[in-house]
Amino acid sequence: MQTQTMEFGPLVVTFDGRVLRPRPWTMLQASWAAELSADLPAGRILELCSGAGQIGQAAAVLTGRHLVQVDVDPHACTLARANAAANVATVDVDVRCGELDASVGAEERFAVVLADPPYLPRDEVPAWPADPVRAVDGGTDGLDLPRRCLAVAGAHVAPDGVVLLQALGSAQVDALAPDVARAGLEVVDVRTEDDRRAVALLRPVRARSTDGPADARPAPA
Ligand SMILES: C[S@@+](CC[C@H](N)C(=O)[O-])C[C@H]1O[C@@H](n2cnc3c(N)ncnc32)[C@H](O)[C@@H]1O
Repeated sequence: MQTQTMEFGPLVVTFDGRVLRPRPWTMLQASWAAELSADLPAGRILELCSGAGQIGQAAAVLTGRHLVQVDVDPHACTLARANAAANVATVDVDVRCGELDASVGAEERFAVVLADPPYLPRDEVPAWPADPVRAVDGGTDGLDLPRRCLAVAGAHVAPDGVVLLQALGSAQVDALAPDVARAGLEVVDVRTEDDRRAVALLRPVRARSTDGPADARPAPA
């Protein structure tokens, strides 16, 4: 199959028709990670559903953080490894080929978790014939893979770390509210390209003190 290349932020990405064609707007997810990075603890980036690898690798280059990437598709992993070899010289990139919820060690924690899951409702998939079904099919309501990503992100983000999740617009972020809470996370911001393209910023919900209510101090006069 013919390979193509595309500039993507600081990278030149190689891809082909067996993976999702890189969407230039998704550089937003990598740039946002870079914008946040200076205020985050030390630590690696985890990218779930990494495809040919360009979003996480752009974030790694821009932040100088080591990167772990996870995708279930062996061909996507081959491209991600090639893209890392061609573009990322200063940090380590560990591409793990497997299910997103079986590829991260129980003790591993990350300062940044990026996720770009398949998020289309299944009945919309035929409208995107150029895209591999596994890259876009999010199940009946589109939420199956986003839910699984949230669970993994919540379990593996560092206490002061952040999660950046791509979604089918802010409406899908709203629909995921119960899953966000179940993962121990909260949405703190959403940036949208349009009503079908969004990135949500989430943080772990801070554990409440057991010494008493957080607002026990006297109110200011
Ligand atoms: C929407 S594509 C995103 C790819 C890449 N981030 C990009 O922007 O081109 C979703 C990716 O998730 C992967 N994927 C689907 N189901 C998965 C699973 N259960 N575990 C890990 N990766 C999965 C697909 O192989 C695909 O590469």
